[in-house]
Amino acid sequence: MSQTIDLSPFRAVLDERGVVTDRDDITPWLTDWRGRYHGDAAAILAPATTEQVAAVVGIAAQHGIPLVPQGGNTSMVGGATPPADGRALILSLRRMNRIRSIDADANLALCEAGVILANLHDAAQAANRRFPLSLGAKGSATIGGLVSTNAGGTQVLRHGTMRGLVAGLEAVLPDGSIYDGLAALKKDNRGYDIRHLLIGAEGTLGVVTAATLRLAPAMTSTLTAWVGVARPHEALHLLHRLEAQLGPVVEGFEILTEAGLKNVLAHIPDLRSPLNAPAPWHVLVEIDSSGDPDGTASALENTLAVEVANGSVLDATLAQNEAQAQAFWRIRESLSASEKALGPALQFDVSVPVARMPDFIIDTGRQVEATFPGVHASAYGHLGDGNVHFHVRAPDGTTDGSAWTSEFGKPISQFIHDAVVAAGGSISAEHGIGQMKRAELGRLSSPARLAALRAIKSALDPLGIMNPEKLIPLASEA
Ligand code: MLT
Ligand code: ZN
Repeated sequence: MSQTIDLSPFRAVLDERGVVTDRDDITPWLTDWRGRYHGDAAAILAPATTEQVAAVVGIAAQHGIPLVPQGGNTSMVGGATPPADGRALILSLRRMNRIRSIDADANLALCEAGVILANLHDAAQAANRRFPLSLGAKGSATIGGLVSTNAGGTQVLRHGTMRGLVAGLEAVLPDGSIYDGLAALKKDNRGYDIRHLLIGAEGTLGVVTAATLRLAPAMTSTLTAWVGVARPHEALHLLHRLEAQLGPVVEGFEILTEAGLKNVLAHIPDLRSPLNAPAPWHVLVEIDSSGDPDGTASALENTLAVEVANGSVLDATLAQNEAQAQAFWRIRESLSASEKALGPALQFDVSVPVARMPDFIIDTGRQVEATFPGVHASAYGHLGDGNVHFHVRAPDGTTDGSAWTSEFGKPISQFIHDAVVAAGGSISAEHGIGQMKRAELGRLSSPARLAALRAIKSALDPLGIMNPEKLIPLASEA
């Protein structure tokens, strides 16, 4: 339930569109993308400039009003949903959607926090460059959220996560001061790196308002292949063969199951399976062949032919044109949304050392299905990064998803996360902690990690107004 908060100081520093109180306009932003978390807020504050963000945060600090920064609201972990008691206001960055500049010579783009990822892709392309980070939510995810969650996606294998792509950062700190670190300096040794503290902080240490982002050269030639294999083990072997034969040109290497593929095809009628026959596992491979289009194409074909001949690859096909390549990617990018339609499920975004991932997928899948009868385990994603999205779906016929989640959410999460820790991995590879994994972070973190997290949080946000209830485990959760 929303609380009575005096909005007049905010109205004094924002324009007419800057304070949204109409319930119809607010409601869509109170629930997370998966529909799992429901919050409340009396208003959405929507500043248009960094100075306005600073003024808003300053007022919030003065009055002790918590703020929940929000971009495209595509968090997978409830990271941008306000608390249920309505004590916080949403701070939307969506109006700050200008690409301030693109410097093609320096390979840099200066973007405000509300720029939608797909719009940056288009702008970079128009400058004959590209921003090498992509994910399924690219049509709504914003730069501020991508920075704040240290987003990953399907090109991390070659280009790294957001952390490696942010060359400079501007943010408003919890006292309302502006941190201007936008200059892209190759060398800067002024002690603690504020930029890296804010990347992945999920809005708990301040509000990212703009970022200087690194661009890569545009790809003038790509090869997109779809490959069928028996197990993730053969998929990883193929990645190693490709890297050995083609060099560091593998842009994407994504795995999915036959069931995952079928589910996408059932939801999107104009897509069809790239392969003629089913295969237990599928791999989508994208290669940057700009350096040597013909040589790279024949190296890819030869490698696939060798792997088919030795039985490691069951079948493979190359996209014959851009439309086909895009269709392959649409399959991959539709996995999450199609699976959402299948019914209640628990999602785990986990990483383990790459070499251990094939066994982890198979063993943990079997074990969770044996321990919780009726559930369906599945995995897909970024095998080459040692990161998969491991999902556990409720038994067929489960109609009351929230009852199932309240009964099984905790034991299944603990089961999966214990397996992750035993394999030397992380319970959050690229989606962050948000509300969803906060208790598990508390349960599974070392005292050293927890103490450092808390010390940083209370030093920078002593009033605790920045994105409450996210990331930092509660006292009862550690
Ligand atoms: C993906 O790789 O598709 C995204 O990280 C979202 C998801 O968890 O499905
Ligand atoms: Zn992912």
